[in-house]
Amino acid sequence: MLLGSFKQVAVKAAEKGARILQARYGNISRVRKKVAQEIVTEADTESEKEIIAVIRHSFPEHEILSEECGLITGSSEYKWIIDPLDGTVNFAHQVPIFCISIALESQGEMLVGVVLNPLSGELFSAVKGQGAQLNGLPIHVSSLSTLTDSLLVTGFAYNVKEIFEPVITRYGNCLKASQGMRRLGSAALDLCYVACGRFEGFWEQNLKPWDTAAGALIVAEAGGQVTTFSNHPYSGDQDEILATNGHIHQEMIELLRI
Ligand code: IPD
Ligand code: CA
Ligand code: CA
Repeated sequence: MLLGSFKQVAVKAAEKGARILQARYGNISRVRKKVAQEIVTEADTESEKEIIAVIRHSFPEHEILSEECGLITGSSEYKWIIDPLDGTVNFAHQVPIFCISIALESQGEMLVGVVLNPLSGELFSAVKGQGAQLNGLPIHVSSLSTLTDSLLVTGFAYNVKEIFEPVITRYGNCLKASQGMRRLGSAALDLCYVACGRFEGFWEQNLKPWDTAAGALIVAEAGGQVTTFSNHPYSGDQDEILATNGHIHQEMIELLRI
């Protein structure tokens, strides 16, 4: 019951943020460089403001970690982890692949995850122990077990130039072993696409907790497996994430071992 009401607030917050992103799509005036290739637009900050307002209204004592404003401390054990716009580079170039990602954590355990693509209207969600859904219907990872028939997806962190060799070696290994590799530009959606069976596996280095918190729960609740590259349980503060349908997980671990 409690978890259900947390999810309702997460969905409401995501919908509020989505309205901002819809209005700002193709209509941004300020693109600010954070570092190197990393940018932030007014869409990121305005979406964040709306999302946080909804959460604070319902749960003023909860802690919040959000990409653009950082940590807002609270007196509660609950912590919301927010990416108000995942896929900012796509958004700035008017590529319609981006989303809002909102998760709720308590004592290191992810309880709720919501990922909303404002343009397609796809709403992915999960509640710990209660499965994962796409627009209210249950979703599951794919049942494919052959790596050669698997479609994989990855992403490149903004500091990719600093970790270029391992990333490219791993990319090459996956490209040679699979049916194909994709790079969509939104880690949260990459994870959700594994959860609903569009991709068999996703991996990336150097993501941040707000990129993966909701999506990792959605994959796990859809029956998938989420670990580090060395097969340890994944938690948001680790440098590496591998999320698969489970069937190809061990083979992926071998491919990523360099
Ligand atoms: C980025 C996206 C991208 C991933 C980057 C992330 P942002 O998030 O998820 O797919 O490859 O590593 O930083 O900056 O668009 O919120
Ligand atoms: Ca992100
Ligand atoms: Ca972001």
